[in-house]
Amino acid sequence: AIEKKIDALLSKMTLEEKVGQMTQITIESLLKTQDGKVILPMTLDPEKVDVAFSKYKIGSVLNIGGDAITRDAWQKRIEILQKAALAQRLKIPMMYGVDAIRGNNYTLDAVMFPQQIAQAASFNREHAFRVGEIAAYETRATSVPWVFSPVLDLGRQAAWPRIWETYGEDPYLVAELGTATVKGFQGSNLVTDKFHVAACLKHYMGYSMPLSGHDRTPAWIPERELREYFLPQFAHAIENGAKTVMVNSAEINGVPVHASKHILTDILKDELHFQGFAVSDWQDIQYLHLRHRITRDNKESTMVAVNAGIDMSMVPFDFTFCDDLIALVKEGKVSEARIDDAVRRILRVKYEVNLFDEPLNNPKDYPLFNGKAHHQANYDFATECITLLKNQNNILPLKQGSKILVTGPTANTMRSLNGGWARNWQGTNSDETEKNHNTILEAIQQTFGTQNVAYEAGADFSKLLDVDKAIASAKNSDVIVLCLGENSYTENPGNIGDLNLDKAQIEFAEAMAKTGKPIVLVLAEGRPRIISAIEPLASAVLQSYLLGNEGGNVVAHTLSGKINPSGKLPYTYPRAANSLINYYHKYTETKAYDEAAGYDPQWEFGFGLSYTSFEYKNLKLSSNILKPNETLTISVDVSNTGAREGKEAVLLYVSDLIASVTPEVKRLRGFEKIALKVGETKTASFTLQAKDLSFINSALERVTEPGDFEVKIGGLKADFVYKTE
Ligand code: IFM
Repeated sequence: AIEKKIDALLSKMTLEEKVGQMTQITIESLLKTQDGKVILPMTLDPEKVDVAFSKYKIGSVLNIGGDAITRDAWQKRIEILQKAALAQRLKIPMMYGVDAIRGNNYTLDAVMFPQQIAQAASFNREHAFRVGEIAAYETRATSVPWVFSPVLDLGRQAAWPRIWETYGEDPYLVAELGTATVKGFQGSNLVTDKFHVAACLKHYMGYSMPLSGHDRTPAWIPERELREYFLPQFAHAIENGAKTVMVNSAEINGVPVHASKHILTDILKDELHFQGFAVSDWQDIQYLHLRHRITRDNKESTMVAVNAGIDMSMVPFDFTFCDDLIALVKEGKVSEARIDDAVRRILRVKYEVNLFDEPLNNPKDYPLFNGKAHHQANYDFATECITLLKNQNNILPLKQGSKILVTGPTANTMRSLNGGWARNWQGTNSDETEKNHNTILEAIQQTFGTQNVAYEAGADFSKLLDVDKAIASAKNSDVIVLCLGENSYTENPGNIGDLNLDKAQIEFAEAMAKTGKPIVLVLAEGRPRIISAIEPLASAVLQSYLLGNEGGNVVAHTLSGKINPSGKLPYTYPRAANSLINYYHKYTETKAYDEAAGYDPQWEFGFGLSYTSFEYKNLKLSSNILKPNETLTISVDVSNTGAREGKEAVLLYVSDLIASVTPEVKRLRGFEKIALKVGETKTASFTLQAKDLSFINSALERVTEPGDFEVKIGGLKADFVYKTE
């Protein structure tokens, strides 16, 4: 039925109207300004709105225009824009899109969940689904039907400033959590529903691997690796109905992805049968000329990008894209068929998010916005993300009544809990906007009693402050909670020249260690900054990543023992900045081959401790032979052998022992999060089929080669054979 409606609409559209649908501009270009600066409070400029909709017939608007605004302000803003769109001849609603990653963070008070990297540490699909569901609800509550989330890039270049926006280094984990989130965002029947939004898979594909580690710089990824590690997560989410994708801003093997017909059309649309639309990233069509220098001007860039397969251009400031594209069609350089295909895709998604029937949502239909249940879900999720990396002599949980010195640059700021894409792009305003949430310090004071907690900043992110005062205070304390890490950032402003934790923070840790008091190191960071120099000085290490607004409470409650941590690292924590080997490395990267420099990270992917202990027993396979079209069932008993209830992420790895392309030492092929009471045993079950053993061979085909395999779960191993006859 939708396709018929699209046919009818398309047949009435002029070229100008079609090109307008392919155009997305940023809200900043529609706001009132004075001397080039937005006038506060932000107000839409009726003349600019009129030009955008009446003259250029634009189909989409994005962004927040600076800092987060209230829910009412959003509603009013969307009402004005939507009315302007609906006032046009064909009454096609505009589709607003925002970076509502981990919650509608662009609306004041909406729930801000842990960032994706922290979410990944939970190894819990249900929680990821719930983030999508709540974020969709709170976004739709402001009449916004489209979120630029989730990020399906592979987080395996530790220096890259957006690694925290990913689900970590493993393609299977990224695919599973990404798809769960998409399902949460989109629900099962968007067409009739006002509580869900269209998801946008980012950044298709290969964006996360800049050789330099710097954002939007060249990546060199052979086609085989692209298909093995970077494509499957997009394919999986698309198979499960993801409606839009945003394109990688960078270049791969010398070709900017915005100009790659191979990646955008041959693979995405022809091979994966993607029915939704591909939106460019910010100004990236113009950047084909301005930055990448593969075209002579904007017009040529538009031709190359649209012909490659871009359906919507995030222009974002002006209308040259419209003028150029109309001219290109008239000159026969872009076919009408390509335009119709792009517009059909865009209209399809507009119908699917029910925009034609309900272009504006009624705020009264969203009573759960910013409500208790959503905040509770946020806390519950964050409890499963925090990751305990070291706990010598069970120093944690800390005893009640302990005298605690809380110190370090991340101790008393919401910026290091929320990271970038908070209530503004770089997260710079989190300390003002998140006042009603606890920093780590505030939460520790509440949990252990203010009288037991001293605070000295001691050091900033990159400079020492009053270290003597911190030393004096440490001497009067039983334990030092040393909070180190990073300030908020994202994209290019987050580029670094050195993955090592800043020198000042290392020196500060050394000064604290000299006091002789035990150190509990709390890391609040978006990427794994190298801490090998100071890790031995700490009795315990807690990784809090970017836990979101409940992060302070979750750190404090983990220190007190109210929370039993169950997160596991979603990436390899490197020991040295020039030794970035991920867990699914090759045999020649192991210690067995290279004793001096083989894989020896600070902590391995999947590592995480608990306050209780788990024992794995009875690893059983339903058969020791697997054949095509058969299913192998694998089970293992997991017991809680400690003195506290806890949760355990059970991870199943498979190793292909001999293959025509050098096999990885192991690959994650299953995970389940289970809760166990003291003394309780549960059986975790997994299934494997031939496709789970497959890989991309050197002819670029996905194959499963017959031969010997090994299953590994929790230190146990079992062999089986894959036979084709
Ligand atoms: O969604 C983002 C993307 O991740 C980076 N560039 C800007 C887009 C829209 O804000």
